[in-house]
Amino acid sequence: MLLSSLASIFCLVGCTSKPVKPKAANAAKPAIHELSPAANLGRLIFFDPTLSGSGRIACSSCHDPEHAYGPPNSLAVQLGGWNLDHQGTRAVPSLRYTLLHVPLWHQERAASRMERFEELAKSDNPPTGGLGWDGRFNTPAAQAAFPLLNPDEMANVDAEHVAAAIRKAPYAAEFRRVFGKHVLDDPQKTLDAVGTAVERFQFEDPSFYPFNSRFDRWLDGRVKLTEAEQRGLALFNDPARGNCASCHLGQRGADGSHPIFTDFQFEALGVPRNPELKANRKAGYYDMGLCGPIRSDQKSEQGFCGMFRTPTLRNVATRGAFFHNGRFHTLREALEFYVQRDTNPEKWYGKKAGGRVEKFDDIPAALRGNVDVVDEPLTRHPGQDPAWSTKEIDDVLAFLNTLTDADAKGPSTSGSKHALTGN
Ligand code: HEC
Ligand code: HEC
Repeated sequence: MLLSSLASIFCLVGCTSKPVKPKAANAAKPAIHELSPAANLGRLIFFDPTLSGSGRIACSSCHDPEHAYGPPNSLAVQLGGWNLDHQGTRAVPSLRYTLLHVPLWHQERAASRMERFEELAKSDNPPTGGLGWDGRFNTPAAQAAFPLLNPDEMANVDAEHVAAAIRKAPYAAEFRRVFGKHVLDDPQKTLDAVGTAVERFQFEDPSFYPFNSRFDRWLDGRVKLTEAEQRGLALFNDPARGNCASCHLGQRGADGSHPIFTDFQFEALGVPRNPELKANRKAGYYDMGLCGPIRSDQKSEQGFCGMFRTPTLRNVATRGAFFHNGRFHTLREALEFYVQRDTNPEKWYGKKAGGRVEKFDDIPAALRGNVDVVDEPLTRHPGQDPAWSTKEIDDVLAFLNTLTDADAKGPSTSGSKHALTGN
C-alpha cells in the first residue's frame, strides 16, 4: 500500500496502464424509473471515479452497465490501485440478476462429526450463498467497502479517505440529507452509508434486472427458438449429458419468475491454473475460494478448498473471461473444458517432471479430492468420448446466446490481446 502510494507520487504521465474510463452516471438510463433517495445517491457513487485512489476508476469501470454490469474487456482480471497497475486475482462477475436473489451464506450442518464427514464426502450438501466467488459477504451493503479499500481495486487508504472524497463530491449535501447531518464526520458511518446507497441502487434500478433476452421472450411465448437453440437447450438440461441445469437452474420459479441460471451453491470444478495472473507466479499460492486465502473464516474446512460459487449464465456469451480466475477467454473453450476435462486432461493441465499430466493443478495436491467427479459431465475417463461433440457444442453456444440481454455488449478489444466473441 505504502509503496504504491509512493509510486503514484513519483509516477509521471505514461507510466500507468490505460484506465478503463467510467461511464457517465446516465449510461445506466435509470431516470425512467423512480429510485429512492438512497438509491439515487448509490447511482452517483457507483459511477464516481473520485472515490478511488487513482481518481480514475469507479465501480462501473469493472461492472460496466453496457456489459451487463460485467467487465468491459477480455482481461482475465481487471487492473486497479493508485496507478491502475495492480492486477486483481479474480474475474469480475456480472452484477445483473443475482443480487436480489442470492441467499445468505449457509451450510446445513449434520448432527455428528461422522455424519458431517459423510455429507462432505458425498458432496450433495454443499454450502450455498453469499456474495463474491467465495460467498464472504452477506449483502451488497457489506460488500461495497471491499473494492473501495482493496489496494488492487479502488485503493482508498482508509475509510477517512472515502469520507474526504464524498465531502468534496457534488452530492455531499444530499448525502448528509439522506444519511444524517454528521454522517461525513464519521468515516465508518460514511462507509456504511455508501454501502447502503450502492445496495439500494443495485436492488432498485431496473437496469440490473431487464429480463429482455431472447430466452425471456421465448418463455413469454413471444418468439420461437431456432432448431439449433432448442437442441442446445435440450443438451443443457439433459441430466445424462450436459447436466448443466442441475447447477445453473433454468426452470421458472414456483411463482412464474424467470430463472437466473444459478443455484448459488459452491462446487470445485478444478479449473486450471491461470498463468496470466501474477499472483500465480508464486509457487505455493493457491486461490482456494471458500477456504481462503481471501476468505478467512472457513480456513479449517479442508473439504471446502477449491470451491467457488456457481455464477449466473445470463449474459455469459458477452463475457471475455470465464471462471473465477478468468482462465478461459471464449465461451467455446469454457464448454470444451466441461466436456473434455476428464477425457482429454492433457489439453487443460500442465505436465509434471515425469511427464504425467497434473490434473487439477490449481489446487494443492492433497486437496484435489475435493474436485467434483460425480456430476455429469465430469465423470469420464481418458479413452471415452466427451459428453458433447463439436457440433453439439455449437448448439449449446447457440442456446447460451439466447441468454444475452437486448442491450448487453461483448467485450471491447482495447486492453486485451484476446479474441472477441464467445464462439
Ligand atoms: C477493479 C475492478 C472492480 C471494481 C472497481 C469494483 N469491483 Fe466489484 N467485483 C470485482 C471482482 C473481481 C469481484 C469478485 C470478487 C471476489 O470474488 O472476491 C467483484 C464482486 C462484486 C460484487 C459481488 C457480486 C456477486 O455476484 O457475488 C458486488 C456486489 C460488487 N462487486 C459491487 C461493486 C461495487 C458497488 C463497487 C464500487 C464501490 C465495485 N464492485 C467495484 C471487481 C471490481
Ligand atoms: C455441479 C455444478 C455445476 C454443473 C453441473 C455445471 N456448472 Fe457451470 N459452473 C459451476 C461453478 C461452481 C462455476 C464456477 C467455477 C469456478 O470458477 O471455479 C461454473 C462456471 C461456469 C461458467 C463460467 C461463467 C463465468 O461467468 O465465468 C460457464 C460458462 C458454465 N459454468 C457453463 C456450464 C455448462 C455449459 C454446464 C454443462 C455442461 C455447466 N456449467 C455445468 C457449477 C456447475
